[in-house]
Order: sequence, then C-alpha cells, then structure tokens
Amino acid sequence: MPQLFEQLFENNKKWVADTLKKDPEFFKDLAKGQTPPILWIGCSDSRVPANDITGMKPGQVFVHRNIANMVVHTDMSMLSVLDYAVNVLNVTHVIVCGHYGCGGVITAMGSQQVGIIDNWLRHIKDVYRIHQKELEAIADMKERENRFVELNVIEQVFDLSKTSIVQNAWRNKRKLFVHGLVYDINNGYLKDLDVTIENGDELPKYYLLDQSFINK
Ligand code: CO
Repeated sequence: MPQLFEQLFENNKKWVADTLKKDPEFFKDLAKGQTPPILWIGCSDSRVPANDITGMKPGQVFVHRNIANMVVHTDMSMLSVLDYAVNVLNVTHVIVCGHYGCGGVITAMGSQQVGIIDNWLRHIKDVYRIHQKELEAIADMKERENRFVELNVIEQVFDLSKTSIVQNAWRNKRKLFVHGLVYDINNGYLKDLDVTIENGDELPKYYLLDQSFINK
C-alpha cells in the first residue's frame, strides 16, 4: 500500500514541525543521550503503545515488546534489553504490561495450531497449568480470559525477579521495582495488579542465586 507508506513520511514531517514549535531544542536535547527511568515490557499488539498510554515523551521509556509480553529466560533479546536497561541505563522501574483481549493469551487457552508461534505460546500454557484450578473455577469465559491475562503478567513479574540481572541489582542495593500492570483496551485505563517486587524476599529460596559470583 504505497499511499499508506508515503503517509508515514507526511506524518513524520508534521510531527517534527509540531514538536519543534513546542520545543525548539527537543531533538538537540534528545541527541545527547537517554536516561529513561522506566523499562517497559509489553505486548506487540498495535493497540498498546507504551508512550502514548502513559503520556511519556521520547527519552522516558525504554521499551521491549513481544507477543503476550513474555519474559522467557532464554530469550537473548529480552535479556539484553533487561541487562542494558538495569546496568547501563540504571532504570528504577521495570514494568510488565499485559492487556485484556490479548490474542496470544487467548490462543494459548485453546488447542488451535497457528504456526511457529505455537512454540512461543507454549510458555503461556505453562502459566495456565500452574493456575489451572483457579482459572477453570471461573465459569464466564471472558472473565477467565481476563484473569489469565493478569496471571500471565504476574508470572512474568516473578520471572523477571528470578533473573541474575535483577537479583544482582537488588544485592548491590539498587532501587529496582518490578511492576505488573494490565491495560484495558475497552476503556484505555491501566490497572496496577499490586504485585510490585522490590527485593528477592518473596521468591522461593531455590530461585535465589548465591552472590559469590558478583563479589569476586
Ligand atoms: Co497481546
């Protein structure tokens, strides 16, 4: 669709002009570097743009997005983003943000084969297995889906705190909060799931790594 493609550049020119009108130094300042206080791990869904829904400007949020906002501990891309955000950019908040109506989460509840993505969604099925009892006690399918979205976010918050990256930051007395949020695509509101973790105390002992490595 060439027309749509051209539209991108039209929009971009207008955005540059509007931005400069509000702040002539905007690009000059941003070009100096970034010190975002937030790392956002969200879904790739086109309806959930991190900066727009939180009113954050360019430079304020470091963003990683994948299908169903997953923290998969063998995902080199996620680990690299997390490491850079925590250890180089020194972010204070890591936010996992899911959203109701998430196609990835809903698909993971069923058995339809979609393609390569089935292997990614398998991680979400594991979350279902852990919470199967709670989920299947919810008769209304929409409510069950919504709860599954929430439980998936909570599981990713725990998965973040299991990483050596986050644990070492805490051990080094860094202020680092890991939050779980859900975005409601029906009304635009963000909901805090109140599962913020700020140290490893809540984790089962077998997830806590010994610190001899970083003290060397
Ligand atoms: Co989604």
